[in-house]
Amino acid sequence: MSTEEQLRRVVRQIRTELEWAARTGIVVESPKVPEAPARTEGAPSQPPTPASLNPPARPPQVPPTPEPPTSAVVPQANLQSAPAVVPQANLQSAPAVAPQANLQSAPAVAPQATLQPGPTPPAPARLPVLAEQLAACTTLEGVREVLGDCTRCKLAKQGRQQIVYGVGAANAEIMFIGEGPGAEEDRRGEPFVGAAGELLTSIIENGMGIRRGEVYIANVVKCRPPQNRDPEPDEVAACEPFLAAQIRAIKPKVLITLGKHAAHTLLGVQTPITRMRGKWGEYQGTPLMPTFHPAYLLRNPAEKRAVWEDVKEVLRFLGRPLPGRGAK
Ligand code: URA
Repeated sequence: MSTEEQLRRVVRQIRTELEWAARTGIVVESPKVPEAPARTEGAPSQPPTPASLNPPARPPQVPPTPEPPTSAVVPQANLQSAPAVVPQANLQSAPAVAPQANLQSAPAVAPQATLQPGPTPPAPARLPVLAEQLAACTTLEGVREVLGDCTRCKLAKQGRQQIVYGVGAANAEIMFIGEGPGAEEDRRGEPFVGAAGELLTSIIENGMGIRRGEVYIANVVKCRPPQNRDPEPDEVAACEPFLAAQIRAIKPKVLITLGKHAAHTLLGVQTPITRMRGKWGEYQGTPLMPTFHPAYLLRNPAEKRAVWEDVKEVLRFLGRPLPGRGAK
């Protein structure tokens, strides 16, 4: 190419660039390709346009201020009681606009891990159906309904006349727990109504100065064991969830267990009752006072003194007055 031709080319190039500069205000010094702007994931990859090669300085593009979520108008009390909702204070202090820097520093590509299913989380531990049903019960009636015409253990087929569920105030502060219904209880459908029951009623009313109807009385097993034998471990295991649910429904301040079977069942120990009585224990968070069974007191009247000490301790714990000694 001749020198003249080369000069003409340079002039043409300079003229083109001057025209471009006049139109756009942009001086293109060299045809270098600028770095591609960071792009957010999902934005289609655009071929660079002349203007985007070296864009004029302008305020960063800001997305419109998002509307506060509707939860922001939920009354404050609800916000506070519902931890799942972002509290008001957090909504206010949250930046109204997602900062540009954050957008840019976000990975250009959504991390693969979020798209792929993670390791399968362990299945939430499912309670057995009965435990689930009882856990949902908040009333004695609800527990009774789940109990139904129970045949969950062999006592159902060993001569029981009826289930002896329990008796007393649904909001009792004190709950007495015996071993299992005797003949009279089985006949009448109420715990502690035989000879031992009469003594228990006297302890409650004369000894503690409380009406029998003000406490709640139940047994470890709700069906009469034949010949008044001790309840067997499988029978206790079948029945205990219902007793536990009754206790949860009543929420007594104190449990008083009568005799070794109730104490052993609820405290999960095998200590002789003579060593346990009068010493505080606990059943699922409820204070528990073990004492002698009234049937034992009928055979050993001298031990009434010990029971009197135990119930006085309970009355002191509850801040109730100590009546004069009355149980005979
Ligand atoms: N003995 C108990 O343990 N419970 C009763 O209901 C009656 C006698």
